[in-house]
Amino acid sequence: MKKKIAVLPGDGIGPEVTWQAIKALDAVGDRFDHYFEYCFADVGATAIDKTGSPLPDLTLEACMNADAVLFGAIGDPKYDNDPNAKVRPEQGLLALRKGLGLYANIRPVTTYSNLLHLSPLKENKVKDVDLVIFRELTGGIYFGEKGRAEDNSSAFDTCLYKREEIERITHLSFQHARQRRKKVTLVDKANVLENSRLWRHVVQELSTGYPDIELDYMFVDNAAMQLIQWPKQFDVVLTSNMFGDILSDEASVIAGSMGLLPSASIGLHTSMFEPIHGSYPQAAGSDIANPMAAILSAAMLLDSLELFEEAKVIRAAVTTLLEKGIGTPELSPRITYGTTQIGDTIAHMIAEPDFMIKD
Ligand code: IPM
Ligand code: MN
Repeated sequence: MKKKIAVLPGDGIGPEVTWQAIKALDAVGDRFDHYFEYCFADVGATAIDKTGSPLPDLTLEACMNADAVLFGAIGDPKYDNDPNAKVRPEQGLLALRKGLGLYANIRPVTTYSNLLHLSPLKENKVKDVDLVIFRELTGGIYFGEKGRAEDNSSAFDTCLYKREEIERITHLSFQHARQRRKKVTLVDKANVLENSRLWRHVVQELSTGYPDIELDYMFVDNAAMQLIQWPKQFDVVLTSNMFGDILSDEASVIAGSMGLLPSASIGLHTSMFEPIHGSYPQAAGSDIANPMAAILSAAMLLDSLELFEEAKVIRAAVTTLLEKGIGTPELSPRITYGTTQIGDTIAHMIAEPDFMIKD
């Protein structure tokens, strides 16, 4: 099978972790006789430096013409503390989400039994946590009308949701719950916000079409607490753009390292896959960043192309390394490998015909 993949390495550690994911994909290609054609394009601060735009037209075009997008990370500290910067790297990511119609961001949180001690939570709370956040990604307060008074005396951001924006992600999340433990928790602030009340209304209505799925509701402040108090209670968490942004960062540390968590953004056009960690500029070029989240994002990408066995082999390779106690420094592993060494080892394992899938 031949597939076209747009690769957007981006900023900071983005390029080095994405490169390891490409090695894994190429190894999958060798083993299963597929050919992945990569089209590299700029995004974020790197793109601003080269073209003045955080999402050049050519980049969006490359994504539109691809079967999937592999994304690294964006962000550069030189923009972070300038509230008056006109162009920011993050605008590239937001424009990409809008341009590709990526309305659903899917962030699974799974744990690895030999890494439980890395979690800030007690091991009994973390063991067997398996949840996934469905975050609405192209609406709400991120994309509503906004403005600031010239004299800086006020500013506003509008949170607006249209019924159909809620409907489409709700259907996705319920369908996904069917393949899991069949529970959806809608997280909102319906005691205060009108658009949260619309979410409840729409989700409740649609849930009648999914009688096999248990639906419950939680206010976002309570959900933030429950996530650390008893994360096992969650299966599929369905929520709006900003609540999902915040809760998914919180949920990401439950597993012990952000460097292990992949994500998928899907919608109207090409789907995009990216590690949930950011650009971690302090580590760029030092060969210490964990490429596993990027490599596992490549596994999600393969799932989206219905290459399920191929995705399984990648996940098995990552799990095997972790079980051997091998990892990048932030995992405090028994044996420390650098970014490149992890990528090479995983690619090597995948390509090895004797490397069997575990389950
Ligand atoms: C994320 C990031 C982005 C967001 C930023 C970089 C715009 O935090 O993907 O979660 O807020 O959505
Ligand atoms: Mn975020």
